[in-house]
Amino acid sequence: MASVRFDNAQRIYPGSDTPAVDHLDLDIEDGEFMVLVGPSGCGKSTSLRMLAGLEDVDEGDIFIGDRNVTLMPPKKRDIAMVFQNYALYPHMSVAENMAFSLKMAGFGKEARTSRVLEAAKVLGLDQYLDRKPKALSGGQRQRVAMGRAIVRQPQVFCMDEPLSNLDAKLRVSTRTQIAALQQRLGITTVYVTHDQVEAMTMGDRVAVMRDGVLQQVDTPLNLYDRPANLFVAGFIGSPSMNLLPAVAGPDGARIGDYRVPIDRTAAARSSGDITVGVRPEAWRVAGEGETGLPVTVSVIEELGADGFLYGTTEVDGAVHDVVVRLDERRTVEKGATVHVTTNPARVHVFETATGERLSA
Ligand SMILES: Nc1ncnc2c1ncn2[C@@H]1O[C@H](COP(=O)(O)OP(=O)(O)OP(=O)(O)O)[C@@H](O)[C@H]1O
Ligand SMILES: [Mg+2]
Repeated sequence: MASVRFDNAQRIYPGSDTPAVDHLDLDIEDGEFMVLVGPSGCGKSTSLRMLAGLEDVDEGDIFIGDRNVTLMPPKKRDIAMVFQNYALYPHMSVAENMAFSLKMAGFGKEARTSRVLEAAKVLGLDQYLDRKPKALSGGQRQRVAMGRAIVRQPQVFCMDEPLSNLDAKLRVSTRTQIAALQQRLGITTVYVTHDQVEAMTMGDRVAVMRDGVLQQVDTPLNLYDRPANLFVAGFIGSPSMNLLPAVAGPDGARIGDYRVPIDRTAAARSSGDITVGVRPEAWRVAGEGETGLPVTVSVIEELGADGFLYGTTEVDGAVHDVVVRLDERRTVEKGATVHVTTNPARVHVFETATGERLSA
């Protein structure tokens, strides 16, 4: 087992003038499950491939434990990769598929068999060892691909969107299995996904990337509660955080005519134009006689236990979408106007010009 460190690591593809990965600094602890997440093209796969030795590092270094692996060939790094397109050999049984890399690495038959058996047990594949891949379900095939990585007993697992070929339901159950398995094996894992829900549910910590630049690394809850900038605020959470333009003043902030309470630190640090962030569940429908942000209702999505109100509000002539979680059943008519309010502890404040977080 080993820690992983990206130290100022940069990758600029030939012919491109912007880095695909821009001076990445990232420390991953021994045994940690680290998720790299971000929109398409933000540099997740490139970062992972740099770690695995499949992509050149143009600047900076990469360490596995205390070994500087920057110039080391992939085979020597002691890493196992699981890709999205985990092509299994169709003519080989599950056991043969799993043993193949061990055979290539010169392991004897006995060692191969015992490692394959052990991995198959962990993955719940022991009764399928003699089957061919075509006689397996998608989720089972995916587990065989995992099995191929496990039998190598590597120092680090690198996984690039390994679940994206599975249907939605299977993806949910398999992600729980992978997370549990990783915990049991304790092997340092770097996992790439563009799906923020997957990132939040699987990662010990999550690294959010955008345009090759690392935005924030933290535990899922800290990312949710204290996003460092507007990008992370909008990316993490579903439905997304409401982000509305406001003006900071001595008496708080104003979104149009609605005075929204914000914390003092944020008010003091801002230069004026701010963006106020409120999670859907942090809104409360205002009581009678109470002021609030006027929201015109477009749709109510009733989910049983709770529901979401989707609507719009107008700020200085511009229309903005607003999402409010309703925690009790309400009969609100489409087209009606409701007023919503919140409290300062639940309001995120960002400097509009820089996107940086101002609130504590
Ligand atoms: N071999 C390559 N040559 C040139 N540019 C590349 C190459 N591979 C990737 N890129 C570019 O580098 C950037 C990062 O790509 P990367 O594959 O790391 O993104 P990603 O975050 O994994 O995206 P996705 O979620 O779509 O898989 C993109 O702008 C991409 O177009
Ligand atoms: Mg990718």
